[in-house]
Amino acid sequence: MNYKIRAARKKTAKILSLLCMCKVQIPPSPLLKLFKMYFPFSFFLFSELERDGFCQNPFFECLVAEVSDEHRSKDGHTVVGYGLYYYTYSTWKGRSVYLEDLYVMPEFRGNGIGKGLMCKVAKVKCVRLQLAVLDWNSPARDFYAAKGAQDLTDSEGWHFIRFDGLSLDNLVKDAPKD
Ligand SMILES: CC(C)(COP(=O)(O)OP(=O)(O)OC[C@H]1O[C@@H](n2cnc3c(N)ncnc32)[C@H](O)[C@@H]1OP(=O)(O)O)[C@@H](O)C(=O)NCCC(=O)NCCS
Repeated sequence: MNYKIRAARKKTAKILSLLCMCKVQIPPSPLLKLFKMYFPFSFFLFSELERDGFCQNPFFECLVAEVSDEHRSKDGHTVVGYGLYYYTYSTWKGRSVYLEDLYVMPEFRGNGIGKGLMCKVAKVKCVRLQLAVLDWNSPARDFYAAKGAQDLTDSEGWHFIRFDGLSLDNLVKDAPKD
């Protein structure tokens, strides 16, 4: 299937936010299934994406995969996948890129689009491309492994750490005054 990969534009932000919601995959939990049923689309996410990705100093960059009109999705979209990434820095290795999301609509999978997006992201000048994938997402884990990625949890024992909500507020509160 013919597709092209290009940088996301501000006017793509709406479909991008839709894809971002679609990529929320539901592990086998009835509660989470219910959540997805009632919150299928987040307008909040749309405005945040538009603000943070399409401003003068964007927080992220994003590539989208676009098919021709004749191959548009059953919902009428020509943007059928995306790779959203940003830059990080390793004090061991230097310039690194973090692939936050890689997503292809189910009906377009198996056509090389996911690989195409990931390879394009890899072309930014960096020495490593990193990402996190949930334990239960074995298709994605297999996909990355098939492309030669190493699982750092297995090989180096890394834990993925997060502060948010109250724990983040507490850090901010405890920050020394300037
Ligand atoms: C993971 C995902 C992006 C792959 O996209 P895709 O367009 O279906 O994959 P491609 O067609 O580009 O596959 C390219 C290659 O990977 C291989 N591949 C694809 N899925 C695979 C799998 N589950 N296991 C092993 N290899 C796989 C293909 O055989 C192909 O190999 P080749 O290059 O030797 O021909 C897609 O399945 C997806 O959107 N999944 C849901 C979202 C998700 O889980 N994202 C990752 C979260 S971290």
